[in-house]
Amino acid sequence: MFNILSFIETKRDGLHHDEASLKTFVSALLDGRVADYQASAWLMAVYFRGLDDDELRAFTLALADSGRRVHFPPALQPVDKHSTGGVGDKTTLVLVPLVAAAGLPVAKLSGPGLGFTGGTVDKLEAIPNFQSHLPLERFVSQVASIGCAVSGHSLDLAPAEGRFYSLRDVTATVPSVPLIASSIVSKKLAGGAGGFVFDVKCGDGAFMDDLEKARYLARALVDLSRSHGKRSLALVTDMDQPLGRWVGNASEVLEALAVLQGKGPEDTRELCLILGGAMVFLGGRARSLEEGRDLCRRLIDEGKGLEKMEQLLLAQGVSAEVVAAPHRFLPKPSKRWDIRADCSGWLCRLEARAIGEAVKVMGGGRMRKDDAIDPAVSVELHRKRGESIETGDLLMSLHYNDEARLGDGKAFLRRAFTVGEKPQKRPLVLDRIID
Ligand code: URA
Repeated sequence: MFNILSFIETKRDGLHHDEASLKTFVSALLDGRVADYQASAWLMAVYFRGLDDDELRAFTLALADSGRRVHFPPALQPVDKHSTGGVGDKTTLVLVPLVAAAGLPVAKLSGPGLGFTGGTVDKLEAIPNFQSHLPLERFVSQVASIGCAVSGHSLDLAPAEGRFYSLRDVTATVPSVPLIASSIVSKKLAGGAGGFVFDVKCGDGAFMDDLEKARYLARALVDLSRSHGKRSLALVTDMDQPLGRWVGNASEVLEALAVLQGKGPEDTRELCLILGGAMVFLGGRARSLEEGRDLCRRLIDEGKGLEKMEQLLLAQGVSAEVVAAPHRFLPKPSKRWDIRADCSGWLCRLEARAIGEAVKVMGGGRMRKDDAIDPAVSVELHRKRGESIETGDLLMSLHYNDEARLGDGKAFLRRAFTVGEKPQKRPLVLDRIID
């Protein structure tokens, strides 16, 4: 019989779990033989003691196998992409259709926003009638018919991961590399893709705020994927300022569409080309990352990515009228508050986290799990880090509806930037790890 006390003691004392006991532990949490407080105690023991490679592999497998798995026919073998979460990160909205336009199937399972970071599902739900949760069979058949699909995680994929995640969220055990890696890779395995590109965000707007930790997580994700027979590639990318010029659900959809139209802000376009190139390379449609990047750029220039996006929206319930002119139908805020520079210099700090928090408190994110979101809330960044500023220049605008929350939003934005005497820049891609 499974003895949860001695199981917790094993990790508390820094000893090794075998594969069978990890498997039993995971199923015992799901069927109620293990209580939440016991699983929480184990999570804290892992936070301090870690998991060795064999334990990590076995725990990840047990999570992935705790529910259904998606199976794609061998000829389809899609690639998937995962970002560890950031502010203004709308790359998934560009990459899914863009990479599919390169002839590589993309099956993207996404989550809602976590904390101050935005989630793809919340962004897509800003589009009237977008069906964000597809039944698994429909998800697979859409990938087969149009080459791509995006769906929120269904509850029957890796359900144990969801249970552990909600316990970690309330027991201060989220920032543990083995727990993050197993959480991400188990969901990717259950999602059935043949290869994964990981975008590990690094900076004040990410779970990993320093480069060493971000590199360590990137390496762990690639090694763990390989131990499960999956090819992967990880990029460590900058999240010390938001990506793009807009943060907030509806505005990010429009910014992603602008990138697909060959416009949009330079950093967003560049990161999409790099990540898209990596996906295309991993899926065997390009011989190098550079060739993949060039292919993605061509597909944008020829309007192929945008065409695929339109197919995707139509397939997931959006009307032709909305697809033809999304900017007319996406929710718009009624009010605006501006911040102007009170001195000249260079914008040397633009805190992603404070900006993400501002959007969240204004109603653009959730304070509690079941809060409704106001998709119209956004922050518009008129200046980005490294740009020069004159006194009186417009720095940021908060677009919102709910006047009662304005004080909180202003407080976050007022401390989100610093004007200094020297320009400061940081590269978009800080490191890459290729399997
Ligand atoms: N994203 C996940 O899916 N899991 C984590 O643990 C952290 C970020």
